[in-house]
Amino acid sequence: MPALAELEQGLLRVTEQAAVAAAQTMGFGDSHRSDRMAVESMRRELDLLPINGRIVIGEGERDKAPMLFIHEELGALVGDEAAPTLDIAVDPLEGTALCATGAPGAVAVLAAAERGGLLEAPDVYMEKIIVGPTARGSVHLDAPVAENLRNIAKAFHREVTDLTVVVLDRDRHRQLIADIRQAGARIRLIQDGDLSAGISAAVRGTGVHAVMGIGGAPEGVITAAAMRCLGGEIQGRLVALNSAQEQRLVEMGIEDTQRIYSTEDLAHGERILFSCTGVTDGELLRGTRFFGGGTRTSTLFMSLRRRIIQFVDTIHREKLTTPVMFQ
Ligand code: FBP
Repeated sequence: MPALAELEQGLLRVTEQAAVAAAQTMGFGDSHRSDRMAVESMRRELDLLPINGRIVIGEGERDKAPMLFIHEELGALVGDEAAPTLDIAVDPLEGTALCATGAPGAVAVLAAAERGGLLEAPDVYMEKIIVGPTARGSVHLDAPVAENLRNIAKAFHREVTDLTVVVLDRDRHRQLIADIRQAGARIRLIQDGDLSAGISAAVRGTGVHAVMGIGGAPEGVITAAAMRCLGGEIQGRLVALNSAQEQRLVEMGIEDTQRIYSTEDLAHGERILFSCTGVTDGELLRGTRFFGGGTRTSTLFMSLRRRIIQFVDTIHREKLTTPVMFQ
């Protein structure tokens, strides 16, 4: 098999296996356990790949995260500069609480790029605005909400009242929600998962036209990788919501707290690979299904360089005698 195809298959398998591991705990009410299952699986699978890999967005610092910590080196060929040298951003289980309650929208996701191709964002928050290719270039993070919505509506050749904006249901978004309502757009409040919502905004037919509000900065970087592949746009500004996060920004030498990061600032690699597998059912991807004798996964896989977007439906059979269902 050519090296690239083998690498892509390998990364696809990493999110598939993480999704299967997490999905086994769906509805158990234990988000830590769900997350741990996904993290352990992702680490195991990444370490088997013929890569010289390094985690740039992970589960936190080495002392706080037992594995998949930032700067952890992974892969069967660590240190081999002749091997594919990758920076990897992971969110083994995006929407831990969604998985723990069986709610829609939990995914296992990773983005990879050549060294330096993904921003090493601190684990703080990020104020974001995300739109798909249709409205790319028509929004600005600092513009009034009503103005952004007018411009998005114009790009879609429709009225503001025809738009749906996804917002995380958080107290910090009271003013934002009031502003969107005042402008006349519809709102879908979500409990968690602004990363998958961002991907939905970049795919026509999902009924999502934009994502606005403050979510995780690591999720912002992974969203940017997806936007590079999908032609969408994210603008983000790092936000510290407590003193520990303020300290984190200082430690990382981030002085300009007003800086707006563009999609390319967050994910400027030219060889971005992106894989996202459904854990629970969502707008774009079906959740992982178990049918006795095997599992079935649904994945969005993208390669920027090869300009491909694949929806991959995989049946993982434990026994060759397991019957295969059409749907
Ligand atoms: P987890 O996967 O870690 O549970 O995060 C889910 C999430 O909702 C993200 O999608 C979002 O960016 C972030 O948490 C928002 O953070 P908070 O829940 O602290 O508002």
